[in-house]
Amino acid sequence: MTTPSPSTQRKPAPQAVYSPITSSAIFIVATLAPGSEPAEKVRGWCEDIAALTRSVGKRVPSGNLSCVCGFASGAWDRLFGGPRPASLHGFREMGVEGRRAVATPGDILLHIRADQMDLCFELATQLLSRLGDAITVVDEVQGFRYFDMRSMVGFVDGTENPVGHEAVDFTMVGDEDPAFTNGSYVLVQKYLHNMAAWNELSVEAQERIIGRTKLSDIELDESVKPSSSHSSLTTITEDGEEVKILRDNMPFGRPGAGEFGTYFIGYARSPAPIEQMLENMFVGRPAGNYDRLLDFSTAVTGGLFFVPSADLLEELAERRP
Ligand code: HEM
Repeated sequence: MTTPSPSTQRKPAPQAVYSPITSSAIFIVATLAPGSEPAEKVRGWCEDIAALTRSVGKRVPSGNLSCVCGFASGAWDRLFGGPRPASLHGFREMGVEGRRAVATPGDILLHIRADQMDLCFELATQLLSRLGDAITVVDEVQGFRYFDMRSMVGFVDGTENPVGHEAVDFTMVGDEDPAFTNGSYVLVQKYLHNMAAWNELSVEAQERIIGRTKLSDIELDESVKPSSSHSSLTTITEDGEEVKILRDNMPFGRPGAGEFGTYFIGYARSPAPIEQMLENMFVGRPAGNYDRLLDFSTAVTGGLFFVPSADLLEELAERRP
């Protein structure tokens, strides 16, 4: 048999990073138990994720069930050793007292999406039951899609996401790290909002904080849009070109407990643009000119993970640290 030439070699398939917009999602962050047995179990499980997703998804073919699995820096070393993704590191805390992007424990991230919560729920149950006490779930959030794609704070969320080949270019690792082609970095943060205080603001004041109109979701004109607006601070450029990330935030909450939240999730081909946006929001651009959305929102978790390609995820079962 002849070896295919590099140009005809198939590129590894990505995980479902770029998936259709769904109405439900479950976000799970788990830590890995100490010792070699739990690590062995997780490696074996990497091979099962795709098959379990197919089995559960097949029951409702129109339900768009998908699952993305990522690993944090320390867990990567413990589970798989080298080679490791070039830009994978721990979540970098930033901000000041009272306005901090905090890092919280987490080795494994599961981002499960579907148009029905029962599909997400069933897949989460199947995936976690395989792992048993090899892991401890430290955070679990069930997110829902709010009226016309609105975030918990009432503004349409996701409008400026890249689409088509732009979404691929901005989220998939390429030649810069060939062993990890079509992998992605993903950063998550769970935010809790002070909705009573937010709702006391006039719609115009809220619009100046987000940088877009509330009802019609149109970007404010540059002449009136403050440089501290969320939209301004999360717009970044490199060599004159805008650098985007792919977001799929979900509202979540428990009205009875007074809990109103946004689960932020951002994918990119390097952690750098997401970290730059976070710095602009929490520290400010320039320092002090921070995102006023943070006066009404507190980040209570933070984690950075690498999402291997679907092919690599299966191969990881054979790795030894
Ligand atoms: C409190 C949590 C957050 C909420 C409620 C929120 C909400 C929103 C809304 C309503 C928009 C405008 C519509 C759109 O283009 O999507 C937006 C834009 C955006 N957000 Fe957030 N966001 C949050 C956190 C973050 C974080 C932590 C980041 C990055 C680290 C981020 C990055 C972006 C980007 C890149 C845009 C598009 C900016 C543009 O191109 O105009 N967001 N967000």
